[in-house]
Amino acid sequence: MLEGKKVLVTGGAGFLGCDLVGKLIEKGALVIVLDNLFRGKMTNLQEYLDNPNLTFIEGDVCLESDLLKCESIHSGLDIIFHLAAINGTKWFHEKARDVIENNIVGTLRTLESAQRCNARYVLASSPEAFGESKQQPLSDGNPMVFSNPAMHQRHSYGASKYLDEVATQHAIRDGLDARIVRPFNAYGPKLLGDEYGQVVAIFFQSILENEAITLHGDGSQTRSFTWIDDVTDGFIKAASDKAQSGDVFNIGSQQEVSIAQLQKMIFSIVSEDVNWFGGLPMVIMGEGYHGDSARRLPDISNNIKIDWEAKVSLNQGLQQMWDSIRSN
Ligand SMILES: NC(=O)c1ccc[n+]([C@@H]2O[C@H](COP(=O)([O-])OP(=O)(O)OC[C@H]3O[C@@H](n4cnc5c(N)ncnc54)[C@H](O)[C@@H]3O)[C@@H](O)[C@H]2O)c1
Repeated sequence: MLEGKKVLVTGGAGFLGCDLVGKLIEKGALVIVLDNLFRGKMTNLQEYLDNPNLTFIEGDVCLESDLLKCESIHSGLDIIFHLAAINGTKWFHEKARDVIENNIVGTLRTLESAQRCNARYVLASSPEAFGESKQQPLSDGNPMVFSNPAMHQRHSYGASKYLDEVATQHAIRDGLDARIVRPFNAYGPKLLGDEYGQVVAIFFQSILENEAITLHGDGSQTRSFTWIDDVTDGFIKAASDKAQSGDVFNIGSQQEVSIAQLQKMIFSIVSEDVNWFGGLPMVIMGEGYHGDSARRLPDISNNIKIDWEAKVSLNQGLQQMWDSIRSN
């Protein structure tokens, strides 16, 4: 289905994007990556850079001129996976204005590109599009709830994803073959563990640097961590058929764990190698981010249409991530 297809992956140098790019290349697609390297890295694409089926364009997804460049490489596009966005919770608070502009304008420009090329479109949305919705599991039709922006600006991200979904649904109404994918807390070896990174990688990095691990609040907030390979399989399945146009797929594991449980699972995995990194760090309770959701559990009932559910358990994935850290 992907052999010879002209596929644009925006944000393809990022954590999810580079894994998706690898799979698309393996399936014979002609892949173009558009990434401004704000958070993505060329090293993420290292193993494919010599592959003639990959073209990397350093550019901005908000600029029509950069998208036109991508469209001209193979004279048109068959599929656009739109992943470029400012992601990372610390950025949502620190750079709310940029998050809003980047994420919304990037989606509008890529939707226009898909319309120009008559390409199939896959939007990477987020469970954060539900804001602070208490109703779980997160299902289509649940309210999407955003709090007073005078309190905090975290929802620059979730609300931008909400508007991305609005724009995508509007384009579907106008005839575009598009669908929405919401990944739930993806993790894997290339996840960023710096202060702008995400929790699983931050915990591993703190262990390696013997720095205290901070649990936000009492660590009782839960997440549905989903292994990278499962997530990118979900993206590809979601793009496999025109019949999926208009569908929304929550790509998330059903294994719900609290952040405190996650920390204990990680400690149990790494403790066998305690001599290698020199001892487990302290665990402290600290203040969390405003607007953080208490739970994020996906309703995956719609995924029957694409035969998707998470295959890798959290314990298996954490072990694989640790093995990869140890071997590098
Ligand atoms: N990782 C997750 O668990 C998760 C969960 C929900 C949603 N998502 C969404 O999936 C997508 C990919 O997430 P990720 O974890 O790989 O994040 P990431 O930050 O690793 O990747 C995003 C990429 O987009 C690039 N980018 C940002 N702005 C750009 C611009 N204006 N022009 C070109 N490139 C730009 C960045 O440099 C980066 O390489 C994002 O849209 C994110 O919001 C991810």
